[in-house]
Amino acid sequence: MASSSNPTTAPAAVPAGLTESSTAAAAAAPAVEPTTGPPALQPTAEGSSAAAPVETAEMAATASTPISAPEAGANRPAPDQTAIEVDNDEVAAAASISSDDNTTDNNSSFSDEGYAESSTGTNVTTSLSSSVRDYQFENNRRYHKFHEGKYHFPNDEPEQAREDMRHCMMVHASGGALHYAPLKNPQKVLDIGTGTGIWAIDMGDEYPEAEVIGIDLSPIQPSWVPANVRFIVDDAEQPWVTAPATYDYIHVRNMASAIKHWDRLMEQVFTALKPGGWIEIQDINWIYRCDDDTMGPDYAVGQMAKYIGQALMNFGIKLYSPDDNPARLETAGFVDIRNTVDKVPVGTWPRDPNMKMIGLYNRSTVYDGLHGITMGPLTRGLKWTPEEVELFLVRVRRDLMNPRIHSYVHMHTLCGQKPY
Ligand SMILES: C[S@@+](CC[C@H](N)C(=O)[O-])C[C@H]1O[C@@H](n2cnc3c(N)ncnc32)[C@H](O)[C@@H]1O
Repeated sequence: MASSSNPTTAPAAVPAGLTESSTAAAAAAPAVEPTTGPPALQPTAEGSSAAAPVETAEMAATASTPISAPEAGANRPAPDQTAIEVDNDEVAAAASISSDDNTTDNNSSFSDEGYAESSTGTNVTTSLSSSVRDYQFENNRRYHKFHEGKYHFPNDEPEQAREDMRHCMMVHASGGALHYAPLKNPQKVLDIGTGTGIWAIDMGDEYPEAEVIGIDLSPIQPSWVPANVRFIVDDAEQPWVTAPATYDYIHVRNMASAIKHWDRLMEQVFTALKPGGWIEIQDINWIYRCDDDTMGPDYAVGQMAKYIGQALMNFGIKLYSPDDNPARLETAGFVDIRNTVDKVPVGTWPRDPNMKMIGLYNRSTVYDGLHGITMGPLTRGLKWTPEEVELFLVRVRRDLMNPRIHSYVHMHTLCGQKPY
């Protein structure tokens, strides 16, 4: 059954047990000062407003990613990369957004209803053994048990609510579209890392003639879903047993914080797609940006993202994979590659009501998820104590709710077609 642990070791510069390659990868990560302990333990300069941008040279290179406009068949507007206009009337609202009280979901009930047997999964490891349905508890959060320790973010109800809100934000920021790839009557759709299954369920409604399959490490999807939608507990990074040329469309969203071996995954996706089928990868690139010097280098939200990136790098996961994925699709053999980058504001500072709403959603998903997105990576990957994480989050919350800081992030939508 569930186990629990509560690491109390002192912060270490480099966690024990790193492989050579992951250490090298960590060394290549964006520089974060200091690396030996959380910044909350250092004296902080209140009210500092230095104007230097947070991005490193590597990060700044991302901004020059070519942006292509959607073509026929895409049902979303062209991305707008001009500066977002600021709403000067926006007051310093201490908005009442629900707090991330660290809910322990010890009473969760779950069943394997609606989950498929192993022969339909993508790999041979799928089974309905107890480890598939079990959970692991750590620092008052619930994590997946199947292939335990692989994904560093919780799967409990607060996290699920946050994922659903982020789905709304991303669909809204995509002009209401569930996909950008120009799909024509897809028959078989796969959603890798489906999470709560919310995208797969919407997709099943939009394409009633398609069979939509969602796979995930966690059995957290609902049982009552459209008849054409089903879920499988599976690890997408294991070798797939899917027959070649099975799928018309494969969707991968918000997986930058999860996937270790993108090249291998793209090869398997390529094989599993039918000729003419499409891959689509949508991710937020968690580099906080600003066009008007209102975000200083001490912006705690940006620092948090860097720490999370550094922690994940210690596990061989590159948080900034959206930068590399276009080249990966090309290497895997995809053609007609389209990479769209949209600005997504953080907070309600934009003048435009639509952008203001997207910014509110975006800020809320970060604010509500602060405990969940930091606790796993920073305690496991950087060996902070839970108390050090909590202390750091005080600064993060303050900066996140500061309407004078006009930060935004990039949402990348990348698709490519398997040649006929
Ligand atoms: C950030 S959530 C994204 C959920 C969903 N794609 C969305 O955008 O709403 C990442 C999900 O990927 C799952 N995941 C992580 N690594 C995985 C793997 N190797 N195979 C399958 N699922 C994985 C996690 O369990 C989690 O539910």
